Amino acid sequence: MFSRLVVQTAAGINRRFPRAVLQARFFTQQHQKQARSRLLSPFFISTTSAIVATGLTFAVMSTQHHDDLLEQKIALNGTADHEVEEATKYLNNMTIVKEARSNKNMFEIEAYSHLNGSAKLHSLTASTLRGKGKVIVAPVIFYNKSMTEVTIVCHLGTELCGHDGIIHGGMLATLLDEVLACVAFPALPNNIGFTANLNIDYRKPVKSDQWVVMRGQLDRLEGRKAYVEAWIEDLEGTKMTEAKSLYVAPKSIIPKIGS
Ligand SMILES: *[C@@H]1O[C@H](CO)[C@@H](O)[C@H](O)[C@H]1NC(C)=O
Ligand SMILES: *[C@@H]1O[C@H](CO)[C@@H](O)[C@H](O)[C@H]1NC(C)=O
Ligand SMILES: *[C@@H]1O[C@H](CO)[C@@H](O)[C@H](O)[C@H]1NC(C)=O
Ligand SMILES: *[C@@H]1O[C@H](CO)[C@@H](O)[C@H](O)[C@H]1NC(C)=O
Repeated sequence: MFSRLVVQTAAGINRRFPRAVLQARFFTQQHQKQARSRLLSPFFISTTSAIVATGLTFAVMSTQHHDDLLEQKIALNGTADHEVEEATKYLNNMTIVKEARSNKNMFEIEAYSHLNGSAKLHSLTASTLRGKGKVIVAPVIFYNKSMTEVTIVCHLGTELCGHDGIIHGGMLATLLDEVLACVAFPALPNNIGFTANLNIDYRKPVKSDQWVVMRGQLDRLEGRKAYVEAWIEDLEGTKMTEAKSLYVAPKSIIPKIGS
C-alpha cells in the first residue's frame, strides 16, 4: 500500500493562484492489484493532518448524519429514489462503463470518497449539483495504471442550463476543473496542487439531459508544474468542450485554514 496526498488550496495560496479551488483533499490509494480485484474505493481523507487527530471523533459521529442528509438531498428526500435507481442501472449497463470495468489496465475509484460528513454535504459537486435534473448519479471514474489518464462517465440533467436546453458553460468549467485535478494531483510532489490557469474552448453546445464522457490526461510534468488537458465528449466520441490547465504544487504542504 502506498499513500498519496491530494490537497487543493488554502487561503494564502489562493492569493498567489487566484483561480484555485477552495477545497482540501487528501487521498490514499490502495494497491492497484487490489483495485482490480474489487472495485477500488481509496481512502480519501478530507482535511489536512493538522485537524485529523482532533476532528476525527466528531467526524465519525457526524458522518452518518451528514450522509443521511446528503441522500435525502440527492433523492429529494425520497421523491426521486426511482429516478436515481433507473439512472444507476443505466450507467452500470453502459458499454463504455462495462468495458472500463473489465479492462485490466484500468482501475475504478469511487467519486467523492475523499469527502466525509460536513465536507461532503456542503461540497458543490458532491452535493449541491447532485440530484434529480442535475447530476443524478455520482460519476464513475477510471484511471489507467500510471494515473496519467482518467475517464469519467456522468449524466447531465435538464436543470443545469445557460441557454435553455444547453448546459451552462460555468457548469462545464466546474466539471473540467475536477477532471484536470484528477490527472494533475497524482503526478505532483506530495500529490498536491493549485489551479494556476484554466483555458476552455467551448466547441459545440452540450445539450442537457445526456450522458457524457470526460477524459483527462497529463501532458507533461516540469518540477512542481503539471500541464494537463481534459475534454467532454458525447457517447459517439465527439469533443464538445476542451480545456487545458496548469497546476502548481506548493513548496510546502499547507496547514488547514485557522489551525
Ligand atoms: C469517513 O467516515 C467513516 C466513519 O463513518 C470512516 O470509516 C472513514 O474512514 C472516513 N473517511 C474519510 C475519508 O475520512
Ligand atoms: C424528509 O422527510 C421527512 C418526513 O417526511 C422529514 O421529517 C425530514 O425533515 C425531511 N428531510 C429533509 C432534509 O427535508
Ligand atoms: C443493457 O444494454 C443493452 C444494450 O446495450 C440492452 O439490450 C439491455 O436490455 C440492457 N439491460 C438492462 C438491464 O438495462
Ligand atoms: C497511461 O496513459 C499514458 C498516456 O498518457 C500511456 O503512455 C501509458 O502507457 C498508460 N499507462 C498505463 C499503465 O496504462
